[in-house]
Amino acid sequence: MRTQVAIVGGGPAGLLLSHLLHRQGVASVVLESRDRAYVERRQRAGMLEQGTTDVLRESGAGERLDREGLVHHGIELRFGGEGHRIPITDLTGRTVTVYAQTEIVKDLAALRLADGGDVRYEAEVLAVDPSTGTVTFRQDGAAHELTADYIAGCDGFHGVSRRAVPDVRTFARDYPFAWLGVLADVAPSTDELIYAHHERGFALHSLRSPSVSRLYLQVAPDEDLAAWSDARIWDELAVRFGTPDGWELTPGPITDRSVTPMRSFVAEPMRHDRLFLAGDSAHIVPPTGAKGLNLAVSDVTILARALTERYASGSEALLDAYSATCLSRVWRAEHFSYWMTTLLHADPESDAFARRLQRAHLEYVAGSAPAMASLAENYAGLPLK
Ligand code: FAD
Ligand code: DHB
Repeated sequence: MRTQVAIVGGGPAGLLLSHLLHRQGVASVVLESRDRAYVERRQRAGMLEQGTTDVLRESGAGERLDREGLVHHGIELRFGGEGHRIPITDLTGRTVTVYAQTEIVKDLAALRLADGGDVRYEAEVLAVDPSTGTVTFRQDGAAHELTADYIAGCDGFHGVSRRAVPDVRTFARDYPFAWLGVLADVAPSTDELIYAHHERGFALHSLRSPSVSRLYLQVAPDEDLAAWSDARIWDELAVRFGTPDGWELTPGPITDRSVTPMRSFVAEPMRHDRLFLAGDSAHIVPPTGAKGLNLAVSDVTILARALTERYASGSEALLDAYSATCLSRVWRAEHFSYWMTTLLHADPESDAFARRLQRAHLEYVAGSAPAMASLAENYAGLPLK
């Protein structure tokens, strides 16, 4: 079997790349190890930069996003029992949109299949060969080979593609905490996201729709989910969001829960020969800055442009620049995500001096126009070059 671009992984990065290439007349095959329902149910990110919604809309994948996405103009930082609004749109001229990763994946998979795209589920890639463009995969109990001009490794952090880059250099940081994320059938208690710092730990109030809330709690990296009853989760959230001003958190039935470890990770370079890494296969950020999904979208947007130019004109200039172009954006997002994480979490290893510095930092960010503008610029996302 042959195609122009073999795409390993059918998460947001792989499906969007396949869709963008199709719009430019470039053929691809997507190989995804899980079944479709699993990929479409996996609860993950929810906050999209304007650059991400622009890419989806301009490529014809924004119809439901435009109907159901919730456009936001600010976020709240809450600490010491007080809220401080960061007016993102006033400071940057840009908006952010709440629209879940599950919905993006559903929209893209439906579009690919409607457009006659070749997306194979339960097709596990066993190995990729960057020098020949050959991908070996297992489907229906048998081994198969797909040969392509190029391979896109969109197979996430635990995939096989990154391991095929010889002399890959990795940079990593693990954090002494994790996030317990819950989805609840209850109207959000807030119109805008609340990022709360509390001495007991960080908490985030996000949302999915006018009737579904998404909330996160900082917990220990080895936290046992079984120790968290619904009542304990809501009690802890209420403490961390607590203010004396009468604001209340409304609890409701929890429909999904999971614990996500927090790490920073970058693999360099993001290309070897015919193989290009994109999204979580090349880099991970802690979720505090809401950057993981947005970076996956910018990587594949840059890769789709480079492949389109290659097939249109024969020029490999953009493909040759791919790794460096992505990595400069990746490292900016790595820094912002690290910065937001250390600003807002309670570090169990910190001492009293470090905690006072953290509080001074929070007060500076909430009280200084240039500091707020810097947070807003990074949160809304820097434009693609
Ligand atoms: P993935 O979404 O990981 O997709 C990779 C795909 O490749 C998967 O479908 C996988 O099944 C498939 N695959 C893997 N190996 C193979 C193989 N050998 N063969 C074939 N297919 C393979 N970001 C935020 O901004 N906010 C959040 O709240 C947030 N929460 C997260 C929670 C969790 C548990 C995780 C893991 C990530 C979270 N992220 C969050 C990050 C964000 O979801 C990711 O950055 C985003 O999913 C990256 O998309 P991707 O397509 O690169 O990778
Ligand atoms: C969501 C997740 C994040 O990590 C974040 O910073 C903002 C929103 C969410 O899932 O809605």
